[in-house]
Amino acid sequence: MINLDLTYIEPTVSALELAAMSAKATSAYKRLQSKDCPGSDFLGWMDLPETIQSLVADIKHTAAEIRRRDAVHVVVGIGGSYLGARCVIEALRPPTDAKPEILYAGHNLSASYAEHLLSVLEKRDFSVNVISKSGTTTEPAVLFRMIRNVLEKKYGEAEGLKRVIATTDEHKGTLRDLATKFGLKSYPIPDDVGGRYSVFTAVGLLPIAVAGIDIEQLLAGARDLRAKCVKTPFETNPVLQYAAARHLLYQKGKQIEVFANFQPQLHYLSEWLKQLFGESEGKEGKSVFPAACDYTTDLHSMGQYVQEGLRTLFETFIAVEKTSESITVPTDPQNADGLNFLAGKPLEEVNRMAYEGTRIAHADGGVPNFTWRMPELNAYHLGGLLYAFEVACAVSGLLNGINPFNQPGVEAYKKNMFALLGKPGFETEASQLTQRTTASGRRVSCFS
Ligand code: PA5
Repeated sequence: MINLDLTYIEPTVSALELAAMSAKATSAYKRLQSKDCPGSDFLGWMDLPETIQSLVADIKHTAAEIRRRDAVHVVVGIGGSYLGARCVIEALRPPTDAKPEILYAGHNLSASYAEHLLSVLEKRDFSVNVISKSGTTTEPAVLFRMIRNVLEKKYGEAEGLKRVIATTDEHKGTLRDLATKFGLKSYPIPDDVGGRYSVFTAVGLLPIAVAGIDIEQLLAGARDLRAKCVKTPFETNPVLQYAAARHLLYQKGKQIEVFANFQPQLHYLSEWLKQLFGESEGKEGKSVFPAACDYTTDLHSMGQYVQEGLRTLFETFIAVEKTSESITVPTDPQNADGLNFLAGKPLEEVNRMAYEGTRIAHADGGVPNFTWRMPELNAYHLGGLLYAFEVACAVSGLLNGINPFNQPGVEAYKKNMFALLGKPGFETEASQLTQRTTASGRRVSCFS
């Protein structure tokens, strides 16, 4: 099972200080379990590893059909409606499993991205899974409209619609209406599960299954982690200890958490973590700012800052214990590059020593750090880790006195964008904003 190494949060957070957080962290977790906390309508994620079981066979069946038929599968969604799936797919998809290719859309509004994607889709057999809990989010809605056009041109309306799956609210929203109107195959997102906590619903599970990953193992890992977490006291509970320790680090001025890995396939795990913690905790003018680095790559860029910049950082490493040892550094009889001290060593050993060296150097430089360790990078342990982070984030939010399950701040940009684009109902905002976006209202420095 996954574990948490707290060695290098010393001396910033001592074992005694952490132990003193036991009652607060345990009480926050109990409040989640008894649904007695802010955002208590959004706690369905806690039981998902069990409650989703009834849908698993259906999801696997749909995924098998897509894998048999399509060269490309497009996942259309943004934020919590795509990051969980992408995180697991990038981490675990076997390199030999190339069909269907999974492409993503609706997570940006870039015209050049869309143009390229649509031109690829024109040439290949594809299906689409459009995912949106609200069913009204602009980015996926616009891209879905564009992709539907390609589908209809290519396959005709009736055939095209058979290649669409809608994953959305069970009862309401524009996407639900579209699904009903066009008779689309659809999956529900439970009312009590928010976007960034939805990886264990069809939102995450269908794309993950389409990528050929064992969703039952993913859920088993989450289920076992949940069972352990429920019955383990604070003193030996890594999830509660992590939430409590990062809270103490924050109180001591460590305002930025850098999620760091030494395996490039974990890049999207960091993206998922940034969203989970950033959107859950960043409100009311407080909370840790989540950032991410991919090492050793970023040791040659951000590494300088982490080692010697502002001392407001702490780091959370995600490490994998058992990795491929089969690739070794070759011997060179000439030793022209001076690397024979590495000859015969597995490349992963070099990588591991880079990690060991880094965490010690960063701790010595004033950056306390944790390591979450997975025995192996597989569906079971990743499922456990994702579930552990969900609990830790919720507990951390409650310790911080905020509601971890809403995201009121994301509305501000939408309101301005709608006003500027002339959406009916935004006329007042539009007139105010127009002045601020005209050339005369701007302060621009340019060469004469
Ligand atoms: O966590 C969240 O709630 C958000 O990140 C949403 O997932 C994101 O905004 C997309 O929303 P929707 O699924 O309604 O399109």
